[in-house]
Amino acid sequence: MRTQTGEEGSAYDAGPYLPKRGGLPAHRRAAADCRGCPLFEDATRTVFGEGDTSARLVLVGEQPGDQEDRQGEPFVGPAGRLLGKALEEAGIDRSAAYVTNAVKHFKFTRSEGGKRRIHKAPDLRELTACRPWLLAELHLVRPEVVVALGATAGKALLGRSFRVTKDRGTLIPLPEEYDVEGGDQAERKRWLVATLHPSAVLRADDREAAYAGFLSDLRVAARALER
Ligand code: URA
Repeated sequence: MRTQTGEEGSAYDAGPYLPKRGGLPAHRRAAADCRGCPLFEDATRTVFGEGDTSARLVLVGEQPGDQEDRQGEPFVGPAGRLLGKALEEAGIDRSAAYVTNAVKHFKFTRSEGGKRRIHKAPDLRELTACRPWLLAELHLVRPEVVVALGATAGKALLGRSFRVTKDRGTLIPLPEEYDVEGGDQAERKRWLVATLHPSAVLRADDREAAYAGFLSDLRVAARALER
């Protein structure tokens, strides 16, 4: 099957590791043993999504970072702190959201001397391999609004043609793939809002302007939740 990422199939695949039934706790337990791609080899642990299992809002990042890999929770490092601040300013209660990543293991290279672990972006094969977990999370949580944080999350959700600069800050209908067939929400409009990754805000030359844009995109998601 051709997926949103446009892949016909990949030798890497988390699919066989997914439980046949069960909710998010069963999926989280199974994901801990995922060997669907080689990223598990160097990472400390799988970092599965966290939060309200019936959340109206799901936030999707790229992959766990160094802190997340150590602590086992998404967005607990510097990017997570910036995200928390912006959510609060946008009037979104983080504790009522479900937060996850497109890829569930930390990918990194080692600095010279090997002390520091430096983030490395996941490639398309890893992204495609990990997608069954993200799809399962979205089917189980069934949010009304999904926020894609950055290009990797956007590509995982909307396919390779996604461009954060072009697609950010507007309400994009959530593709049908993310609806549970026959679900009672099938009639209701569900949305995707894309924005920058919070790490991109932290790295921006003009951090103030980048933050203002990030906040304005999150406000689009907040307004969609008011409907
Ligand atoms: N960056 C991400 O994309 N996700 C995290 O969980 C942390 C940093």
